[in-house]
Amino acid sequence: MVKLLFLAGSSRKESINKKLAILAADMARKADAQVTYIDLKNFEMPIYDGDFEQENGVPDNAKKLKQLFADHDGFFIASPEYNSSMSALLKNSLDWISRPHEENEAPLIAFRGKVAALGAVSPGGLGGLRGLVPLRMMLGNIGVTVIPSQIAVSSGFQAFDEDGQLGDDNQVRMLKATVDEFVKTASQLSQ
Ligand SMILES: Cc1cc2nc3c(=O)[nH]c(=O)nc-3n(C[C@H](O)[C@H](O)[C@H](O)COP(=O)(O)O)c2cc1C
Repeated sequence: MVKLLFLAGSSRKESINKKLAILAADMARKADAQVTYIDLKNFEMPIYDGDFEQENGVPDNAKKLKQLFADHDGFFIASPEYNSSMSALLKNSLDWISRPHEENEAPLIAFRGKVAALGAVSPGGLGGLRGLVPLRMMLGNIGVTVIPSQIAVSSGFQAFDEDGQLGDDNQVRMLKATVDEFVKTASQLSQ
């Protein structure tokens, strides 16, 4: 069974991107994937600094997060848009887990050969779409196959009901299409 990791690039308690990641995880579970949802709040780490790394090594939380990525066939990121890009939290986490910490560790074990799907939720009209462009490019450059389909949910503070479901049928269809393609591609590439 394909193993997929779901996370948001926000640690905020009421994060609308966490809601999207949780919903996507539920859909993938129903599509027979083995699903893990994580909250980056539980993987706090300092801002990357080469001197810190030389003195202290890679932080334990970065090692744990890297292992989780390595143990899964793919990952879904619901990425909040900060000034047309990804959040510092997401970029910093991805930067740390791109660092090898064991002798003879293969490069980029968290990323190479993995499949990713992207989503975003924002209160604005574009649904955080612009922030997915640099994220897609970065992941592609470090060996991740990012599937073409993605989901951007506009008017994000109104988009989810009390049960965390999306109210708009079109958005539900887009999310399902993205998740189905994600599960299918990750299943095929993990064989
Ligand atoms: C520093 C910062 C920059 C932001 N820039 C954008 C932006 O470029 N486009 C946008 O649609 N929303 C922007 N927002 C609003 C976020 O989309 C909004 O805070 C959203 O709730 C963040 O996601 P979360 O709820 O998952 O934490 C920005 C918010 C912050 C704090």
